[in-house]
Amino acid sequence: MKVCVLGAAGGIGQPLSLLLKLQLPAGSELSLYDVAPFTPGVAVDLSHIPTDVCVTGYVGDDVEAAMQDADIVVIPAGVPRKPGMTRDDLFNMNAGIVKKLVGVGAKACPGACFAIVTNPVNSTVPIAAEVLKAAGVYDKRKLFGVTTLDVIRSNTFVAQTVGKSTDEVNVNVIGGHSGVTILPLLSSIPGVELGQADIEALTPRIQEAGTEVVEAKAGAGSATLSMAQAAARFTMSLVAAMNGEAVTECCYVQVGDDSSSFHAQPVVLGKDGVDSIPEIPPLSDYEQKVLDDMRETLAGNIKKGIEFANAE
Ligand code: 2OP
Repeated sequence: MKVCVLGAAGGIGQPLSLLLKLQLPAGSELSLYDVAPFTPGVAVDLSHIPTDVCVTGYVGDDVEAAMQDADIVVIPAGVPRKPGMTRDDLFNMNAGIVKKLVGVGAKACPGACFAIVTNPVNSTVPIAAEVLKAAGVYDKRKLFGVTTLDVIRSNTFVAQTVGKSTDEVNVNVIGGHSGVTILPLLSSIPGVELGQADIEALTPRIQEAGTEVVEAKAGAGSATLSMAQAAARFTMSLVAAMNGEAVTECCYVQVGDDSSSFHAQPVVLGKDGVDSIPEIPPLSDYEQKVLDDMRETLAGNIKKGIEFANAE
């Protein structure tokens, strides 16, 4: 299994690479790329950790070599938010980065699973889809927006609220990965009964949890450590699925035939990426309203990505 991290020397990329060095199966290859000149040093540093995962570092023009024949490409590359910014404000910087990197991947590893972390995920995933489509290698089963951070945050906050261990809480989160498009399904958590007042307090907290970190970091960026853990969990689930285990994760994928039908929801992963997409569990009236209210925003984010990808 070859896993490639693009943006590996950044705030998310470094802890993500560390987690993957520790968790990937023996015999795996971890390929790290970043524009930062010290990226080969990150690889050397990690290579001293005694696990049977071979780490190599690439920089500058070597992005194609980094991605060559990768099975999974994880992309956290890009700039993070500062206080007062929404994820959409990152569009101008990050859209071009994703377009370029995925364009290289379309040649170097056309059969890979691509897991996009770069914000705004609601738009960067449709950009990646258009790029892969233009190259004739798009497989909707193999392109993911990583929304796992919304899941782990929900699990943490719910566990704190009801006094359970986080291991006992598994919240499904649907929609997208920004503000009002994040919908945690708090009315149907297996083994957990939340009152409506808790649901109406927790939902906006989960939607704005990324902003909570941005403000707490006071200009030094957004969530990096929890995002790295989330991306590592998603990558390890993909690895397990590609090795034959059926694993369910919430993630942002193309759910229908229409190439603008991107949506986050529980997805069963298998050997070739998305194996099946189960029906979303029944929603409460409150959740249905949040879902109805987000539709226009999500559709606008997707359209913006598609238009950017197809502009000259
Ligand atoms: C977050 O939710 C960085 O988008 C990421 O904090």
